[in-house]
Amino acid sequence: MNRARPSIDPQADVTARYDRIARFYDIVDRPMDLLGGVARRRRRLLARARGVTLEIGVGTGRNLDVYPPDADVIGIDTSANMLARASRRADRLGVPIRIELADVQQLRFADATFDTVAATCVFCSVADPLAGFREVARVVRPGGQVLLLEHVRPRTPLLGWLFDLVNPVVRRFVGPNINRRTEDNIAQSGLEVIEVRRWGIWREIVARP
Ligand SMILES: C[S@@+](CC[C@H](N)C(=O)[O-])C[C@H]1O[C@@H](n2cnc3c(N)ncnc32)[C@H](O)[C@@H]1O
Repeated sequence: MNRARPSIDPQADVTARYDRIARFYDIVDRPMDLLGGVARRRRRLLARARGVTLEIGVGTGRNLDVYPPDADVIGIDTSANMLARASRRADRLGVPIRIELADVQQLRFADATFDTVAATCVFCSVADPLAGFREVARVVRPGGQVLLLEHVRPRTPLLGWLFDLVNPVVRRFVGPNINRRTEDNIAQSGLEVIEVRRWGIWREIVARP
């Protein structure tokens, strides 16, 4: 019998999941973006991007029209299907972004390459978020900034426990983890959080190396 087995590489599973859902991603995510105020928060945060900018997990390119015109953006993602959509969106919008298939856990860029590193709703999906943040800390230059919009594990113990309980089901059927301790991971990676806005499970974070 030829049964599909889960991959032993957790990142390969994540990538396969986003490859599968790429064509529905915007349809499903757009209402959440608008209702949850996420769209407004993306705009506010990414308006701060400057200089040579790396966007991790660029996905279908939802942030492409949000960057200031003088930001020189490279977008990376592990999902070829998500990137194909980002590339089409960039052409449609006339945005000069470079797009690459790459994994934040292992970046090809030299130390201190970027003025800004940005990510929205990404570290809930990266297989080893701490490894990803360590790479971010490595490639952002001294004096540079890291801009993050992420949902995290609730701080209330009961809700935290509940999110832990349902996380395997959400991850299996929707994609992201809903119980990531992202602020702890950032602190452990060597990045310093200099600003954080909290609302519910959402965090808008500015950090520096
Ligand atoms: C929830 S989507 C968010 C997409 C986009 N940032 C947005 O705000 O709509 C998560 C994205 O992160 C990408 N991703 C997951 N693991 C990654 C990794 N290790 N390196 C780079 N991108 C990754 C996924 O392929 C997916 O496109």
